[in-house]
Amino acid sequence: MNKGIEEIKENAIEKGVPIIKDEGLAFLLNLIRERNCKDILELGTAVGYSSMNMARLDKDIRIDTIEKDEQMFKQAISNIKEEGLDDQITVHFTPIEEFKTDKMFDLIFVDAAKAQYGRYMEKFLPNLKQDGVMVFDNMIFHSLIYEADTIKSRNLRNLVRKIIKFRELVQNDERFDIMIFDNIGDGILVLTWRKSGT
Ligand SMILES: C[S@@+](CC[C@H](N)C(=O)[O-])C[C@H]1O[C@@H](n2cnc3c(N)ncnc32)[C@H](O)[C@@H]1O
Repeated sequence: MNKGIEEIKENAIEKGVPIIKDEGLAFLLNLIRERNCKDILELGTAVGYSSMNMARLDKDIRIDTIEKDEQMFKQAISNIKEEGLDDQITVHFTPIEEFKTDKMFDLIFVDAAKAQYGRYMEKFLPNLKQDGVMVFDNMIFHSLIYEADTIKSRNLRNLVRKIIKFRELVQNDERFDIMIFDNIGDGILVLTWRKSGT
């Protein structure tokens, strides 16, 4: 990995900024290569770590990434500029709920408020190309989905239940083909449009 990005990763971990795990990132980058994704939307920028890694794969990759936290946004802008990736990555400082675009994407990477995954999915499905892919991180949420009923904190328990519900919802939705990789990183869910007749 590029030295600058490696430092950004270490700083993020030190400060407790949640960034994608190594395994999850490797999986995501492979998927982008295999499917030749060029137009990418990311929900949840944090300090720009995942978006910079994606952009580095190919000069033709263009990423729109959304962040609502001002500190994170400023840090991401500064990191991305320093790495010379500002011509490929556009960081939008806005809540995801208020972001609007007519662009169509090859990949939509969802890595923000876990409780909102269902909403985010419906909001951005119109922006997913026919052969596009939507990827959701944190599908096992630090393995807490396996012990949801024993979680003491009510808020955390509700959040974990929402993740479990989201998993069930998409698996039973006939619009999609779903693959869930619980053993990769923090659990990755991959959604594609179901082709008619299958
Ligand atoms: C897990 S971090 C993103 C990590 C990043 N994708 C990476 O791997 O480098 C999630 C980010 O989403 C942002 N976020 C959460 N809810 C949001 C919302 N409703 N609108 C915009 N950003 C949001 C948080 O501020 C946080 O920085």
